[in-house]
Order: sequence, then C-alpha cells, then structure tokens
Amino acid sequence: MQKPKEGYFFLTSESQSKEEYKRIIQKTTEAILDSFKDGTAYDGMNPFDLKRTIHTPHLLPEQGLGFDEVLKKMKETLLPNFLRTSSTDYMAHLHSPALLESISSELILSTFNQSMDSWDQSPVATEIELEVIACLCKLYGLGDASDGIFTSGGSQSNLSGITLSRDWYCLHRLGHDVKKKGLPSCYNKLRIYTSEVSHFSVEKSAHLLGLGYDAVVKVGVDDLCRMDVDALQQLIEQDKQKGLLPMCVVATIGTTDYGSIDPIEKISALCKKEGMYLHADAAYGSGVQLSSTYAHRLGNLGLCDSLTVDFHKMFLLPISCGAFLVKDAANLEAFDLHADYLNREEDEEDGYTNLVGKSLQTTRRFDALKVWMAFQVRGKSGYASLIDTCIENASYLYEKLMVNPAFEVAIKPEISSVVFRLNASCEINKLVRRKLIHQKGIVIGQTVYAGKTFLKFTLLNPLIDHKKLDELLILIEALGDEV
Ligand SMILES: Cc1ncc(COP(=O)(O)O)c(C=O)c1O
Repeated sequence: MQKPKEGYFFLTSESQSKEEYKRIIQKTTEAILDSFKDGTAYDGMNPFDLKRTIHTPHLLPEQGLGFDEVLKKMKETLLPNFLRTSSTDYMAHLHSPALLESISSELILSTFNQSMDSWDQSPVATEIELEVIACLCKLYGLGDASDGIFTSGGSQSNLSGITLSRDWYCLHRLGHDVKKKGLPSCYNKLRIYTSEVSHFSVEKSAHLLGLGYDAVVKVGVDDLCRMDVDALQQLIEQDKQKGLLPMCVVATIGTTDYGSIDPIEKISALCKKEGMYLHADAAYGSGVQLSSTYAHRLGNLGLCDSLTVDFHKMFLLPISCGAFLVKDAANLEAFDLHADYLNREEDEEDGYTNLVGKSLQTTRRFDALKVWMAFQVRGKSGYASLIDTCIENASYLYEKLMVNPAFEVAIKPEISSVVFRLNASCEINKLVRRKLIHQKGIVIGQTVYAGKTFLKFTLLNPLIDHKKLDELLILIEALGDEV
C-alpha cells in the first residue's frame, strides 16, 4: 500500500499540512464562486436527469481518485445543480441563505471539530455555548433560573420541550417519576394541545414519547390562523370531564406557512390556572425578538416553561443551528445521565462543565459559534434591519395583492410569509409554480389553505426588494394567463 503524503490527512502544525489545507480551501472556494453564474435560484437539471447523473456505481472506487479529481467532478456535475439559497428568486420554505461570517464560523468549527458533550472535547466551545445560552435566556426574558442547550433545530427542540412537559407533569401532578419508572399506567390519558396549523414535529414527538398521535388535540384557529384560546379552554374542560389529563400546550410563535403567532399571554394564564406546562415553538418567530419595531408581535415569551429557537431560519445562519431554552434549569435534569467515560465525578471540582447532561444528543456540533460570531458582527440593530426588511416586504406584498383582483390572499402576514393564489383553478396555480422553477429558475412555495392550492412567498432574504416583488407578481399573472 502506498504511504500517504505527509499532511494528506489533517491540519497539523506541519508546514506541508498547512499548505495542503490552504490549497484545498482555496480550490474549494474557487469552485463555489465559479458556480454562482447568474442570479437564479435553480438552473440545474430536472429531477429525472439529476437522478440519472448522481446515481452511478462508482461512489466507492477501489483506488481513491484524490482531492483534485473529485473536486473537478463536483464542479462539473454537482455544483451547477445546487439550489442557491442566497438568490432573491428563492422563497419556497423557511430555509435561509447563510450570512458570510457564518461560513467562517463553519470553517472554524469543522476544522477544530470540537464535540459539545464534554469539556475535554470542547474547552472553549463549552464556555462559548454557555455564554450564548445565557445571552439568549436574557433576550427572551426567561429569568434568572433559566438555561438551555443548542440543538439540531426546531424538531429536536420541540421534542425536548414535550419530553420535559411529560416528565414535569407526571412528577409534579401525578407523583410519578417517568425517568425512573417509564410511563405511568394512565399514559394514554395525557393530552397535548396545539393549534391545527402547528408544526408536525408535535405529533412526531408524541409518537416518540410513547403517547401517540391521539394524545395531540388540535385546537381551532381564528381568521389570522392564531390559536383560538376560547376553543382551547373548552377542549381542556371537555377532556377533564372525560377523565383525560391535560398536560401541556404547545403554542406556535410563527406558524410554518403563515407566520401566525399564538397569543402567549392568554395561553400562559390558562396553563397556570390548569397546572399545565407551556412550550412555545418559536422556530420561525424567534428572530423577530431582535426587532425593536416588531418584537411586541411575539408577546412575552418569558412566560413559557420552554422555548424553541431556530437560527437556521430568520437568523440567516447555516443548517444546523437551533436552541432549546427552559425557564427552570432544574427541568433539564430529564436529560442528565452519568457515564463514567464522559462526566466524571471529580469534573465539577476541576471546573469542567459537561454539556451532555442537558442534551438529547451525545456528540454535538459547536453551532453556538455561529450565533456568537453573527451577534457580534451584526449587532442587534444590524440584525434588526435585516429582519425588519423581510417583515416590511411581506406587508408590501400583501398590500399589492389585496388591490389586484387577479389574486386572493389567505391571511394578513404577521411575520414574513405571504400565502396567496391566482384567482384561477388549483391546477393553474400548481402549473405556475412548476413553470417558475423549471423555466425561470424561481423557487416559490405551495400549500393548501381552506381546501385550495395556494402559492407562498417565504421572505427570509433581506436582499429581496419591492421591485423584485412587483416583477414576480407580473410574471405569475402572465404565466397564469398562458396556461
Ligand atoms: C414552526 C416550526 N416548528 C418547527 C420546525 C422544525 O424545525 P427544524 O426543521 O429546524 O427541525 C419548523 C420547520 O420549518 C417550523 O416551521
């Protein structure tokens, strides 16, 4: 077997290794830059051709091809087919472009490859995560006893919140320790209330936690797609009469399609009265907290027992980057478990903090670095101006749609998503979306509202301006007339 060249594997203190690192990063950067040829979001192959190109029998050749050969292949066949999230023609999902400084953070965090489970795998990273979490707890007003942990995103944060709600409810209301004894015998009576337009990760979590989809009670919404608190109260009352056990409410602070915001103050008051846990899924809306103009729209998130925050949505940081915050740090004990090899007994007196005890994950990325860097690079006002632009773009688009009889709007946006349709058949609306992606390189969203197909602009890119929105509406109208 051929002995590999010195420095071929890792970045070390050897000069040859440093040269190779620099060369690889430089070549990769050039390849990425070359692939940004025009402003479109997608000018790659259609799904069938792409499948044929990617699926080859040569993924694991007998002899390695070397970096340069593989990068060449990547340049020719993969990079031209990537979706470009920074394009102002991309607005399909809660999926953002990545701020430039966060690319630098990603490079640093993968080069050093720290793991957040124990201090001896991530000394500075552990301290940075603690620092960022403390800053977030303050930002959302969670109080002195609060704490949190970085997660892979909204789904894991929601699963964490619902897990804590189950353990908290069973321990404090039923005197049953789930962590030790598993589910109580009345497990199938536990109920989770969430709006009918909340994220599907609530149901997924109920399944994973052994409670099942039936434990999730869907609450109706008002004309702005916000949870109807009177309906919530009635459902809780009815369930209590049936002998069921209302355990928690999952409020949504920015629903996936509409950006609608559940009224947290009213829901919190009801949870307190009923002795229920309140988790808020602010995967989408959490970014709005940085805006001095619009933060009030979220309500007082400091009232929640736990909170989902996503940085790979409005905060414009690369996937993955999320946080799970709790009002009472003691509740995080649910995830603590001693492992001889990770969190040794003497660690505390040696000043080590091992974050594994607060997390569902063991090995975990140093995603907090991206927040640490972006917060300081942009500052609160820099971030606020990005977020305000997106919210104002949504209001502008809404006003334009409302005065144009060719269109119908689902609801008035509260954050930065606008759901609308051409006043035409569902088939025409679907065709327009398809034509936009495959003929024009423009990627927009599609959903169903009141049984009809709607189009969706998820406006997370602050580079989108009014002119762009005007042009897109003209184009959509023209495409609708064409089909
Ligand atoms: C409201 C809401 N909650 C949770 C999630 C799940 O977040 P993630 O994709 O980061 O797991 C999403 C995803 O779009 C969402 O819109």
